[in-house]
Amino acid sequence: MKVQVCIIGGGPSGLLLSQLLHLKGVDNVVLERQTRDYVLARIRAGVLEHGFAALMREAQCGERMDREGEIHHGFYIANDGRLDRVDLHKHSGGNSVIVYGQTELTRDLYEAREKAGVKTVFQVEDVVLHGLTSDAPHVTYRKAGEDFRVECDYIVGADGFHGVSRKSIPSDVLREYERVYPFGWLGVLSSTPPVSPELIYARHERGFALCSLRSQVLSRYYIQVPLEDKVEDWSDEAFWAELKRRLPPETAAKLVTGPSIEKSIAPLRSFVAEPMSYGRLFLAGDAAHIVPPTGARGLNSAASDIYYLYHGLIDHYLKHDDHGLENYSAKALARIWKAQRFSWGMTHLLHKFPDRSSYEDKLQDVDLAYLLSSENALGSLAENYVGLPF
Ligand code: FAD
Ligand code: DHB
Repeated sequence: MKVQVCIIGGGPSGLLLSQLLHLKGVDNVVLERQTRDYVLARIRAGVLEHGFAALMREAQCGERMDREGEIHHGFYIANDGRLDRVDLHKHSGGNSVIVYGQTELTRDLYEAREKAGVKTVFQVEDVVLHGLTSDAPHVTYRKAGEDFRVECDYIVGADGFHGVSRKSIPSDVLREYERVYPFGWLGVLSSTPPVSPELIYARHERGFALCSLRSQVLSRYYIQVPLEDKVEDWSDEAFWAELKRRLPPETAAKLVTGPSIEKSIAPLRSFVAEPMSYGRLFLAGDAAHIVPPTGARGLNSAASDIYYLYHGLIDHYLKHDDHGLENYSAKALARIWKAQRFSWGMTHLLHKFPDRSSYEDKLQDVDLAYLLSSENALGSLAENYVGLPF
């Protein structure tokens, strides 16, 4: 097969870029290791910034998101038995976020691609990238015991944190920055009405908790758990009891519980790989960077990568201008590091760190008290949460 752009990874980053390029007439293929159903069953992000939503509309995939997604103008921070509302709309100068599940937007992207006849190859194995510093790179893979080869002008590595693309950059070129946190998030999805119309981020002596939602009949809750915990250690009853303990009493009293539809533990990590390009390879999304989910930045960080890469590739093909591609890594990383700083800060503000001194716990108290009392600090929080400009 011969295409202009070969995209590795059929998660939201790869699918969105593929669809945008297709609409501009750039021929591309997506190679995905899993099946479509497997990708669609992964419950992950729920909060989208407007930059991401704008790209979905540009990709002609925003219709259901605009119809079914909820616009949120604020969220709550729970601490010490009380709830304080952060008015995102007021403090960001009129912005907001959209609550719409990653599973739903991935489904919208797959459906649009299928309608348009854009190529996706599922269940690819042994993907190998070749000739990255040549003018004619290619990708090989196996499927159902047969070997295949894709010739292309460019390769996009959108294959997530555990993908093969980043690992194809020589180790003397690639620099990795990492912070692994000493806890994870146990998440539960349940067909119950959400406890609050807006998200609640809860700081508590026993650990962080988050009340989120997908719709008025579907709730998503998380609690901070030790890294060693296994999903099997947590019955639904134990999860609900622990979540209630970490919420203010009036909120806990309103919580409607029910059987979990999905339950999983995600470890928390901050990670950036530099540079995000090598010869004809460009990394995008979780393949190049990971944030702890506290500030809802992960998928939203991928959005700016896709935006810069899309424009760089379009400029190359339609205007014969390579500036965008040459500057892709530097431009993407400048915004990525801001999202890293914000997510790291939110994680430190709201979690219980097992190895922290009582002095540092006191500083966390005052950080939160300061944040909630300062218009400037709230302005900074809101500006980052709704998404910095691309
Ligand atoms: P992925 O979604 O990881 O997709 C990569 C794809 O590549 C996968 O489908 C994988 O199967 C495929 N692949 C891997 N290796 C290969 C290979 N060798 N060959 C071919 N294909 C391969 N972000 C937000 O913005 N807001 C939130 O509210 C939010 N909440 C989150 C909550 C949780 C609990 C978690 C875990 C994450 C959350 N995130 C959030 C982060 C967000 O889910 C990720 O940033 C997002 O999935 C990144 O998309 P991606 O397409 O770059 O990578
Ligand atoms: C969700 C996840 C987050 O990390 C976050 O900050 C907000 C919401 C969610 O899955 O709904």
